[in-house]
Amino acid sequence: MEFAHGSGCFQYCACGNLIRLCAKTIRRGHYAGCPEGLMIPDRTGRKHASVHGLKFLKEFIANPGDVGSVTPSSKQLAAVVVETARVPQAKVVVEFGPGTGAITQALIPSLRPDATFFAMEINEDFVNLLRKQYPSATFHHDSAENTQKYLKKAGVEYCDAIVSGLPWTFFTEPLQENLLDAALHALRPGGLFATYVYVSSLPLPSSVKFRNKLKARFSHVSMSRIVWRNVPPAIVVCGRK
Ligand SMILES: C[S@@+](CC[C@H](N)C(=O)[O-])C[C@H]1O[C@@H](n2cnc3c(N)ncnc32)[C@H](O)[C@@H]1O
Repeated sequence: MEFAHGSGCFQYCACGNLIRLCAKTIRRGHYAGCPEGLMIPDRTGRKHASVHGLKFLKEFIANPGDVGSVTPSSKQLAAVVVETARVPQAKVVVEFGPGTGAITQALIPSLRPDATFFAMEINEDFVNLLRKQYPSATFHHDSAENTQKYLKKAGVEYCDAIVSGLPWTFFTEPLQENLLDAALHALRPGGLFATYVYVSSLPLPSSVKFRNKLKARFSHVSMSRIVWRNVPPAIVVCGRK
């Protein structure tokens, strides 16, 4: 359904972006300028928020240690994560912690037509939201620690790429280690594991320790350029098995 929208030139979404309205009509519920791609049209012209951004914030308040961030990743960060993990070349791709789908929305269109893809998410509300938004994709309501079980279910032994949005610095060390071990066991030799860390946390001992855990497991670990257009700015760290 389309309808006229005459409430000024700019609006905010909860991802913190000031969105310029450049069309007289927008498709209800969808707006390309929002990194989350899904907005509630506001006929009054007041600030309004994306469904996903608000959901994300609400879940952060309820489960800060799992969600780990008040805003979803930006489109720019999602693009660097997907490119670093070489998603377009991969036959089997797994996403860890899709949340409201900020990275998923860049990942799904980049998949090969014959690719196997599924995501692991522990928050049931997020899983329900993602299943509605991407009915043909698979979202497992389970910890990423159990990825191997779902690879077997999908009829494959290994994956070629793992894209992770997990909030590592919020996790205990044993949980970090379980998750990294699960990633390592799930990847084929040469497979890529791409995750992001916030630049502000890079010098912190917890972040240094996390990178050391990556280096201890993967044969090569690289860092991307800084993605400034993310709140907060982030870099993508990639481990090759
Ligand atoms: C910081 S949010 C990232 C969301 C999204 N990928 C992004 O970049 O905006 C972290 C997500 O990881 C999920 N999560 C936390 N621990 C998890 C686990 N062990 N297995 C799978 N998902 C987990 C949380 O529920 C949350 O949705």
